[in-house]
Amino acid sequence: MRILLGITGGIAAYKAAGLIRGLSELGHEVTVVPTENALKFIGKPTLESLSGHSIETDMYQDVAQVRHVELGQQADLILIAPATASFIARFAAGIADDLMLNAILASKAPVIVCPAMHTEMWQNEATQANVATLEARGVKVMQPATGRLTGDDSGPGRLPETEDIIAFTLQDQALKGKRVIVTAGGTREPIDAVRFIGNSSSGRMGIELAKAARDAGASVHLIAANIDLPLPKGIEVTRVGSVDELELAMDRDCDVMIMAAAVSDFRVENPHLGKLKRSEGLNLELTPTKDLIANYAALHPKTIQIAFALAEETDERLIEIARGKLSDKSITAVVGNSFEALGNHETVVQFVTKDDAVELRGTKAQVSASIIDLVAGLNK
Ligand SMILES: Cc1cc2nc3c(=O)[nH]c(=O)nc-3n(C[C@H](O)[C@H](O)[C@H](O)COP(=O)(O)O)c2cc1C
Repeated sequence: MRILLGITGGIAAYKAAGLIRGLSELGHEVTVVPTENALKFIGKPTLESLSGHSIETDMYQDVAQVRHVELGQQADLILIAPATASFIARFAAGIADDLMLNAILASKAPVIVCPAMHTEMWQNEATQANVATLEARGVKVMQPATGRLTGDDSGPGRLPETEDIIAFTLQDQALKGKRVIVTAGGTREPIDAVRFIGNSSSGRMGIELAKAARDAGASVHLIAANIDLPLPKGIEVTRVGSVDELELAMDRDCDVMIMAAAVSDFRVENPHLGKLKRSEGLNLELTPTKDLIANYAALHPKTIQIAFALAEETDERLIEIARGKLSDKSITAVVGNSFEALGNHETVVQFVTKDDAVELRGTKAQVSASIIDLVAGLNK
């Protein structure tokens, strides 16, 4: 998920360093926008090295890019931690007098605010009224922790611990606490020690599905069959080659199994141990492989199982083919897609369940996010 992390000028600003690290380690892309005053409490080099990008506070830098609109539109979620009393007041009043507030107002993403200030400032009627205004608008405000404050005094107003802020931030995710397995790429069946029967699946769709499931809060295991693309962070990965290796890697329980890998329908009965010579000639005897998703569904009836059906067909026919697979394999849903999607960034798919068929269109990342939303709404 692309998280815009706003940092304001309170004593707890230094704790934002832990948030950048913690959220990045979970695989999220964190863009940091501090206020000018935040930089009095935490240095630009710290924020730049932890987030991996340069830090801007100036609205009028890179004007051609209209940075605040770009920042706001690119964010899936906005987190302000720590949030000062002054920021909360400006946000409640709709004042856009710096880069961060302009980006927030230019965004449709959900906003989470983590106030941190002295107890008297937190309990002040003005602050409480501003918090109530934000909550009434759908902003999620995390209650500050009680404990030691800047000086010797203590009370409510402390910024909560990093892991508590991360848990609060990610708590509403659609697949929170679910275990999702995604298979991706294409299997290879050996002919001899160096040759194989393979297919042209790049694994891109499976990677995007794994990222979308991760961003929806699931703990994701990606089984990658012969994928050359970079694999996402925050995801457990098992690399496999053949159908047998894939079956072995799939042999575990999960809540959702997404079979996006292109699995060979045939294997060579007796692969040659060395390298075959042209002069020897070649006669391949092929036998059908196991239907791995149907097999998994029979063994794990409580799991939501999603298969892919690749066909060179019209939309109507594709839905029919997908429905056929649905009942043949006794699975929950089938994503029907056409040959054209192979290796491309863009795709059009039909998400077919026994009662419904939904067309999804866009980049593989966009379509994957929509598939994961639909999967989160399925019951078993
Ligand atoms: C040492 C020091 C610590 C501060 N700590 C806080 C704080 O924890 N919370 C807060 O709301 N304001 C705090 N302030 C006041 C803010 O820095 C001030 O309201 C500032 O205008 C906030 O700017 P910003 O919201 O644009 O970042 C502190 C000021 C100083 C000098």
